[in-house]
Amino acid sequence: MAKVTFITSDNESITLEANTGTVMNLAVDNGVKGIDGDCGGVCSCATCHVHVLQEHVSKIGKATEIETDMLELADNANEFSRLCCQLEISEALDGLVLQVAK
Ligand code: FES
Repeated sequence: MAKVTFITSDNESITLEANTGTVMNLAVDNGVKGIDGDCGGVCSCATCHVHVLQEHVSKIGKATEIETDMLELADNANEFSRLCCQLEISEALDGLVLQVAK
């Protein structure tokens, strides 16, 4: 079980829990504004772009080359950007806070 908090562009804070799936699935299934998951999680759309809080970067692994390449095409990407369809829910993610990218 992991709790993940999303902060939307409206500064709304939404905390959700899941055991399995990806962070994108969790957001889309619960209607988190700004995360669309258009490609279904195959790392080809960047509509699941989030910024990881700096202090939480250690909770998640490094992005793959495919993810990094896709992020280069995303608006407002920075060193804390991730595509949350590439983040598998696990205990390690518990407490993760993500800012939904604009
Ligand atoms: S859902 Fe398309 S890149 Fe993540």
